[in-house]
Amino acid sequence: MKFSILFEIFIVTQIFVTSNSFPINCNFTTVKFNQLGTVYECSTTNILASSSIYVTSITGTHLNKKNNNDVASIRIQGNDTLPFVPRNFSYFFPNVKTMTIYNTQIETLYGDELDEFPQLIHLDFQYSILKTISSRLFEKTPYMVDIWLPNNKIAKVGYDLFTPLNMTILKWISFRNNVCTSSQVSNGAQEDVLSLIDAIRQQCPYDDEFVTTTTTFLTTSTITQNLYCADENLEDFVCDLKNSLTEVQGNLSTKNEIIDSILNILRENVTAINET
Ligand SMILES: *[C@@H]1O[C@H](CO)[C@@H](O)[C@H](O)[C@H]1NC(C)=O
Ligand SMILES: *[C@@H]1O[C@H](CO)[C@@H](O)[C@H](O)[C@H]1NC(C)=O
Ligand SMILES: *[C@@H]1O[C@H](CO)[C@@H](O)[C@H](O)[C@H]1NC(C)=O
Ligand SMILES: *[C@@H]1O[C@H](CO)[C@@H](O)[C@H](O)[C@H]1NC(C)=O
Ligand SMILES: *[C@@H]1O[C@H](CO)[C@@H](O)[C@H](O)[C@H]1NC(C)=O
Ligand SMILES: *[C@@H]1O[C@H](CO)[C@@H](O)[C@H](O)[C@H]1NC(C)=O
Repeated sequence: MKFSILFEIFIVTQIFVTSNSFPINCNFTTVKFNQLGTVYECSTTNILASSSIYVTSITGTHLNKKNNNDVASIRIQGNDTLPFVPRNFSYFFPNVKTMTIYNTQIETLYGDELDEFPQLIHLDFQYSILKTISSRLFEKTPYMVDIWLPNNKIAKVGYDLFTPLNMTILKWISFRNNVCTSSQVSNGAQEDVLSLIDAIRQQCPYDDEFVTTTTTFLTTSTITQNLYCADENLEDFVCDLKNSLTEVQGNLSTKNEIIDSILNILRENVTAINET
């Protein structure tokens, strides 16, 4: 059948796309953080939208006597094209404690973005267009000390976002200059942290208990599909193929309807013939 061949082509293409290479070029440097002191950092900029969300290789020259295991900080200075947090950094950098993400097109944190960094204590995510944060985001990062998310467009914060965290060690939270709230505590006492969390729950309500489980399940395939057409330079033909598949699927259902109505006429004809 013609159509089954088309479907096979699509599946092969999808495998090709999701396994596409996603190299990251690091500028290795040392940086000072309030909570961590001086740490070794991979700083990367101009990450172009890739058809893979999984980093496949790291390039860049280490400082003297340093290696991937020394990297405690990842800094992504986006260039307005990155629509997701790259995954698989931990494959190369297993000891990440702080993540800085500026100037990206990331709108949603689906919840599994930080799972691979169990030692994370500091997230600094600014000057992006972040709108929605899943309750699950910190489920695998119980040692968060500092959650710094000002200057985004946050409107929905999962009700249980802070639930997995230890209120004895969580001291810095900023949601300044967002849509639903502008609150912040810096090195706050526990009661201040707790009342800020209460305020955020009231100002940015988002009961995502159901959404979380489904989006986590869908994240990879949804993002990959959106990218077919988002990344115009790299994968034009894939985008075209996706569009024609959608068209064929539409045409196919139209043709099924036509075939059904022809079958009905034939059945009536057979009945008519039998009756005569
Ligand atoms: C790498 O980082 C250092 C220190 O921040 C900076 O001076 C240098 O310009 C950076 N190099 C590149 C290629 O971005
Ligand atoms: C992470 O990167 C390594 C090295 O390229 C690769 O072997 C591995 O499959 C990647 N993991 C995922 C989930 O893509
Ligand atoms: C963003 O990336 C594009 C394409 O690589 C490049 O031409 C441009 O200079 C970059 N802009 C900034 C601000 O780095
Ligand atoms: C929270 O952190 C404090 C200080 O490190 C520690 O003593 C306490 O056991 C932690 N609580 C939980 C529930 O992990
Ligand atoms: C779908 O049907 C339209 C109208 O019959 C036709 O022009 C178009 O070529 C068809 N598309 C595909 C991909 O078969
Ligand atoms: C079958 O049905 C169609 C529509 O009712 C009619 O035009 C046609 O003449 C019929 N053919 C036969 C062989 O009865």
